[in-house]
Amino acid sequence: MEKFELDESLAEEIRARVFGEGFMKLVQSVRRGGASFKISLRPVLIGGRKRFQAEMVDEGQTQVKNFDEKDARDGLEEIIAQKGARELHLITATGDLHVRVTKKGRVMASRSAPMERKTAIQPHDRVKNTPLNAFDSLALLRALGIADGSGAIRASMRGKYDQINEFLKHVPSGIAEKRRDPGAVFTVVDCGCGKAYLTFALYFHLVNVAGLEKVKIYGVDRREDVIAAARATAQALDCASDVVFEVGDIAGFSPGGAKPIVDMVVSLHACDTATDEALAKAVEWRARYILSAPCCQHELQKDMADIASRPVQAREAFAGLLRQSILRERFCDILTDSFRALIMRILGFKCQVIEFVSSDATARNIMLKCEYGIAPRQGAAIAEYLALRDFFNVTPWLEKRLAALLKL
Ligand SMILES: C[S@@+](CC[C@H](N)C(=O)[O-])C[C@H]1O[C@@H](n2cnc3c(N)ncnc32)[C@H](O)[C@@H]1O
Repeated sequence: MEKFELDESLAEEIRARVFGEGFMKLVQSVRRGGASFKISLRPVLIGGRKRFQAEMVDEGQTQVKNFDEKDARDGLEEIIAQKGARELHLITATGDLHVRVTKKGRVMASRSAPMERKTAIQPHDRVKNTPLNAFDSLALLRALGIADGSGAIRASMRGKYDQINEFLKHVPSGIAEKRRDPGAVFTVVDCGCGKAYLTFALYFHLVNVAGLEKVKIYGVDRREDVIAAARATAQALDCASDVVFEVGDIAGFSPGGAKPIVDMVVSLHACDTATDEALAKAVEWRARYILSAPCCQHELQKDMADIASRPVQAREAFAGLLRQSILRERFCDILTDSFRALIMRILGFKCQVIEFVSSDATARNIMLKCEYGIAPRQGAAIAEYLALRDFFNVTPWLEKRLAALLKL
């Protein structure tokens, strides 16, 4: 037997522990000069099927890949056959195996009873009952830069982590069960995806928690740099065929096909009328679900700044409020979202306006949560909309965009 080589009985014990009951995690760390290379393997459930997730960390770069058992067996043979000094820690529900190969090539193995390992292998926040804790999200959080190497949430990313967690809480429950064709691909578009924190979190949530077998998510953003970064993250997380990104304006995006069908549209803080465009696209794509948290809204403010051209009743009642720019800005945000909610209702969507995250986390904490399925063009909804619109004598951007469908 060569130096550094594990003997056959030890190799067999490793195989049996990894592919037997109660396997939790294997980590092998190899030191090369000053640098270290680490590979870990853990079981994960993807679309209800058991897979093996390998995470490779080499000079600070993380790569994640999911394997079926056959490929995981080949990968494990490479781990076992690795040359040089290294540490291997294998964790199972019944106990641990520690293997140390010294610089001189001596192999030492020891076994220990199961350990309390919450802090060792899970992010600190896993103890809380949140969507990102409902599945093994460690690799995701690391790849997104939300968690550090030890699995702790970075202080600078705490706000984003909370925002994503709270957003995911509003993914409707039972979406897998409600599908008419459970085998069909569930298609989502994230409009104005930016660095795609939500896009990836939503993908893994839909697959691992909502129980959807086939999910395809498109992230659209007009910034080339964020799309390039999101594509690299998709490669690193081994989901690039299911989570795809396109550079461009939401208005010009199509998931393909003459009459594209999209199941869900999400947008998180898409600027100004980009939120309206996301809503309009969702209507045209006949999306059943929409989760949209609007951002800055300038469009209506421009009209409302001209107090003199408001109808007399609005001018008299609202002059004091509209004169102050901060009050006007906040009021126009509320008015814009009121128009949006009413338009969605007219078009057949049940629309709730909720605060999806605490206002301490972001002042932009409103979400329009819509589900298609009520009678469209109800007289009461149209009357409410027209009364509000005509009181201020404005034409909301979304009404102009969807004029052909609204027929007001
Ligand atoms: C405030 S960022 C939010 C990013 C991401 N949704 C998040 O919450 O982390 C808004 C993003 O929307 C993109 N955006 C704004 N208007 C857009 C449009 N009309 N079409 C495509 N992308 C747009 C911007 O480039 C930017 O990346």
